[in-house]
Amino acid sequence: MRKWLLAAAAAAIIAAPGAGTAQAPIIIKFSHVVAPNTPKGKGAEKFKELAEKYTDGKVKVEVYPNSSLYKDKEELEALQLGAVQMLAPSNSKFGPIGIKEFEVFDLPYILPNKAALRKVTDGPIGDRLLKLLEPKGMVGLAYWDNGFKEMSANKPLNVPDDYKGQKFRIQSSKVLEAQFRELGAIPQVMAFSEVYQALQTGVVDGQENTPSNMYTMKFHEVQKYTTLTNHGYIGYVVVVNKKFWDGLPADIRGQLTKAMKEATIYSNGISESENSESLDEIRKSGKTQLITPTAAQTAAMRKAMEPVYNDVSSRVGKRLIDDVLKETQGATN
Ligand code: LMR
Repeated sequence: MRKWLLAAAAAAIIAAPGAGTAQAPIIIKFSHVVAPNTPKGKGAEKFKELAEKYTDGKVKVEVYPNSSLYKDKEELEALQLGAVQMLAPSNSKFGPIGIKEFEVFDLPYILPNKAALRKVTDGPIGDRLLKLLEPKGMVGLAYWDNGFKEMSANKPLNVPDDYKGQKFRIQSSKVLEAQFRELGAIPQVMAFSEVYQALQTGVVDGQENTPSNMYTMKFHEVQKYTTLTNHGYIGYVVVVNKKFWDGLPADIRGQLTKAMKEATIYSNGISESENSESLDEIRKSGKTQLITPTAAQTAAMRKAMEPVYNDVSSRVGKRLIDDVLKETQGATN
């Protein structure tokens, strides 16, 4: 009898809130659309590890990769509604919720290399862009890298003429739409999770993405040719629901900020090797033929895409485009 009473009393102490027992952890649902073995997937796992460590388990981070919770557009709406707390959408995906300025990163050839990118994201332009998120109910915590994009299709893509009449899947960005229109191609907005099947069934003919995204989603298995154009860039903004973030105890917010800072250094540090390893795997697979464009072909592509800057200047903002150009010209690796 005494034994039973002691057990019941112990159970009551455990169950009683605030009776000297551990409080239920704060849950951060971190939803994303790519595979776990990508720069973003690994960055999210690193953030989870560090956040749980630095908060001594007071915060639990649940990472949902591969669009397992939400697809591209839905995940931003879910964040604004507070159904998830954290995301890392690509810069190209903020347009549909009214923040068009991040599309500046989609302009063809605007970033000659990673050093140029860093100058933008880590400087005043990067800060200015993050501030635009707050009126939309989000706080921007960091910029995470993926890498430079390649073009793929079932026909060789060497010069602008090769793009004519081809249907290309694009992310939800008007700059990317303009880019393909200038090439005479037909752009089609589609969620990342739907691309493999669309390529496989011929709903679209081609796509543009980083080697890491192509390899982990097996796009290369359903595209006969991949041209190493490096014409554009995919990177992310890690965003958190503002109400959730502002409502956290200050010490926890500080610990999470530290975890995010370190996860960012980690994720950005592996992005280049992740992409070059993926490119090696794509090459080794023999499923898609890799094409390296000549200098003359690259010059022709640049020229064909140049009007995009004008096409989108009122949408993205001429001043912003000029500021980014000023920052990136002459940046060397
Ligand atoms: C895409 O939709 O192609 C990418 O933005 C996916 C991602 O998150 O890298």
